[in-house]
Amino acid sequence: MDLNQYIDRKHDEHLKDLYELLRIPSVSAQSQHKADIERAATWVAERLRRVGLENVEVVPTKLHPLVYGESLQAPGKPTVLFYGHYDVQPPEPLDLWTSPPFEPTVRGGNLFGRGTADDKGQVHIHIRALDALHQAAGKLPINIKVLIEGEEEVGSESLWDYVQQNKSKLAAGALVVSDTSMLARGVPSITYGLRGLSYYELEITGPAQDLHSGVFGGAVPNPLTVLAELFAKLHDKNFRVAIPGFYDDVAPVSRSERKALAALPFKPKDFLKTVGAPALCGEKGYSVAEQVWCRPTLELNGIWGGYISEGAKTVIPAKAHAKFSTRLVPDQDPAKIARLVERHIRKLLPKTVTCKFQVLSTGKPWVAPYTHPFFEVAHNALEKGFGKRAVFIREGGSIPFVTQMYDTFKVPCVLLGFGLPDENAHAPDEHIALENYFGGIKAVANFYSGLAAL
Ligand code: BES
Ligand code: MN
Ligand code: MN
Repeated sequence: MDLNQYIDRKHDEHLKDLYELLRIPSVSAQSQHKADIERAATWVAERLRRVGLENVEVVPTKLHPLVYGESLQAPGKPTVLFYGHYDVQPPEPLDLWTSPPFEPTVRGGNLFGRGTADDKGQVHIHIRALDALHQAAGKLPINIKVLIEGEEEVGSESLWDYVQQNKSKLAAGALVVSDTSMLARGVPSITYGLRGLSYYELEITGPAQDLHSGVFGGAVPNPLTVLAELFAKLHDKNFRVAIPGFYDDVAPVSRSERKALAALPFKPKDFLKTVGAPALCGEKGYSVAEQVWCRPTLELNGIWGGYISEGAKTVIPAKAHAKFSTRLVPDQDPAKIARLVERHIRKLLPKTVTCKFQVLSTGKPWVAPYTHPFFEVAHNALEKGFGKRAVFIREGGSIPFVTQMYDTFKVPCVLLGFGLPDENAHAPDEHIALENYFGGIKAVANFYSGLAAL
């Protein structure tokens, strides 16, 4: 039977199985979910065994377990490493979910639940594609190694240690990842670039303890005001980051790439609608796609301090806090940028306060050519799954592992994303369009069988 037909016939079975995985609240950031994390890892391992993978193991790490499995029964055929993550972001704030985050629910052609798009739904697409191929022939048509981690949303520290210690075991002709988005509905996409990231936490201290703002206000530094002034100085009026040296290593976008990006069916109007703000802002001289894919940024992610409960409290707080991050592009180096950011912040802060500056995580940017024959196979497979020609895009999000693998193994990285930019990853009401979930299974099954036919 035809692959697509077989996949269509299993429609209900795909979903029923996915629901099981989505119901496990494998939140990597919260220690209360440790047992759920273990449960999710075990679930994934069991499914890998079911689709014919061998040597399947749940690998304990310092934090959350990794799941590994392989099928090397296709001599002479390509070997790929498929990577994904079974951990999810915290679901809070819970009251903003229309249906509970860990009770998968279909509404209007979308499946809602934490992890539907990022990344359980997309990992499951591969599991179901492998299942279809395994059922069709009793074995898989290519050699595949599967590595699913449980720490992606908290920095992937254990993953990298594991890769370092298992380089030959993980060696493959390509890395395959589904943890990104399509450009838009009906536009299957292959991602050839991701931004990098350096994430910071800042603590500013003024007085030794909280003070009465009437008794002391007027003569003492207020850390909250200092914090506000500081962040107001980190961009100029053209929305460029005002940190000396920040742009020094930024690779300019070539004229041919600018042309290619401008020709994509990227609609700033749809982007504005997704954002829901009255208007957009961004670095002068660049299109919206260039601003979010090809240019570095500095964003405040959270600030806190002082009194925020009911009613009024006249206080000068001792401390103010901020979490913020820089998204990076080639050829910026996350460690170097972190040094520039810290130096500039220390320079801007007045003598009236002290500060503690921490780098919480870093990840390198990635951009790579898409000329390897595997990309053509991927392109054709997406057409088989979606009935449409795919486009090549970059994305603004970060998957540090992709850069690490690309730098270490120098292999093509094929990023087939089946999410959509407005599917609320990391936010309440996360969902995946069912047409893309099912189209994804067909595309991935056709991709793996297309690799076998190369
Ligand atoms: N799947 C995302 C990355 C992503 C999202 C890539 C959208 C492209 C488009 C991943 O799970 C993620 O959230 N990554 C984090 C970084 C990580 C180091 C915590 C991110 O991009 O903020
Ligand atoms: Mn992800
Ligand atoms: Mn994520």
